[in-house]
Amino acid sequence: MVKSPMKKDAYLKNFQDRREWYERVQRDPARFKYHIQPPMGWLNDPNGLCQKDGVYHIYFQYCPFYPELGSIFWGHMTTRDFIHFEEQEPAVYSDTPWDCNGPYSGSAFEKDGTLCFFYTGNVRYEGDYNYVTDGREQNTILITSEDGYHFSEKQLLMTNDDYPADMSRHVRDPQVFRENGRYFMIQGARSAEDEGSVLLFESGDLIHWSYKLRFQPEKPFGYMWECPNYLKIGEQRFLITCPQGVPRDGIEFANVYQCGWFPLDYDFEGEEYKLGDFHSLDRGFDFYAPQVFRDESGRWILLGWMAVPDSGYEEPTLANGWIHAMTIPRELYVNEFGLLCQKPLKELESLRKEKVCGRLEEGLDRETPTCFELNLLMEETEEFEIKLRESVKLTYRCGVLQLDVTECGMGRTVRSLKVLKLHGLRIFSDTLSLEIFVNDGEDVFTSRVYDSMENLRIWTAAGEIRGIWEYYSL
Ligand code: FRU
Repeated sequence: MVKSPMKKDAYLKNFQDRREWYERVQRDPARFKYHIQPPMGWLNDPNGLCQKDGVYHIYFQYCPFYPELGSIFWGHMTTRDFIHFEEQEPAVYSDTPWDCNGPYSGSAFEKDGTLCFFYTGNVRYEGDYNYVTDGREQNTILITSEDGYHFSEKQLLMTNDDYPADMSRHVRDPQVFRENGRYFMIQGARSAEDEGSVLLFESGDLIHWSYKLRFQPEKPFGYMWECPNYLKIGEQRFLITCPQGVPRDGIEFANVYQCGWFPLDYDFEGEEYKLGDFHSLDRGFDFYAPQVFRDESGRWILLGWMAVPDSGYEEPTLANGWIHAMTIPRELYVNEFGLLCQKPLKELESLRKEKVCGRLEEGLDRETPTCFELNLLMEETEEFEIKLRESVKLTYRCGVLQLDVTECGMGRTVRSLKVLKLHGLRIFSDTLSLEIFVNDGEDVFTSRVYDSMENLRIWTAAGEIRGIWEYYSL
């Protein structure tokens, strides 16, 4: 669908005209119970994540009238606890010549109490173009806000002419941070030769930016990298990005687009840096374009888009007027092996209602509603199979953990992960999703599932695993 411009007044009018659509969506029993989802229409990447005066602001790529109208905005939700959310009016519209086909993804950086949002203004020309090396603009734009609700005029900071000369027209999704007393910006990029990389720019004032270098492994890894994030936990630096065009390799890189992290060794001074091995952030079917930010208590929090673009699965909720959701919020930490791990945000514990627990060797057989949390702490694991929600199978055989959603995946089938020693699984189920944290979040499987919403069961055979299980209805 061609994305078309829409200013605030036109949005408000279109929304009023479609009030019934919005209300119908709210009544849909398939709506997620504790995930962020679009008020109506379409949602993709989380944008501009930040916390200001205790309030978390979650902006996101939002196409509320999808599939009827293609205009994209920054949607906006707020929360203080990631349990109760308030819908806000969209924050950024497509209302300048620099972002007339959509304010694309971007992020927040706070300077002296002012929130600075850097994002990509997408412009698509009408005509006969390939839209890779011609026919589009991706501009870097700044808006500021004192409170997260009211925004300044837009300021154009960079156009495609300011990016390195060997780039295609695809350069986007800025993230800004401070290192060594200087400001840096990273952007995802595709070169004219179809090599993905992350471009690094430098600035003394957040307004004037100059290109410094690009992060890229020695051997090309995909043709485009989207949505880069840089983070430093303790003394360890990481570069997260979403490479497109990486060929499948056995059980690795099984989705059409990837998302993962590289350890980054760089002091933000000279030209020398080292990227370590790429690790997938997720092993399931539905994880892409995550954004990380540091909250007021210093935690690194990640939210991802619970989908992968162009994956071609059927999406039944579209018939009910909405599509997609975000992952649960996850806190990032580095484990004893130096791996970037994810754990469900502590706040989610307050969703827990009834608790039941037992020994795994006695087997487990429970009826369950769609929303639950199941924790398995294994002392000894041979091989086992867990049936979750009736038609989803999670098996562990010959050191491979496998998720099989063939029966209820709407085109999704099987995803696998090698795990030498499996000692823990933490599973979150919502109406239409499963998020499975393996070994304290060293790996995660995130998947949407569409099995029946009633008479669900969790089941494991007796005698295969030793340890304890803990079940909570949510
Ligand atoms: C990733 C992405 C970004 C872009 C946005 C547009 O899903 O393609 O690169 O900014 O979505 O909606």
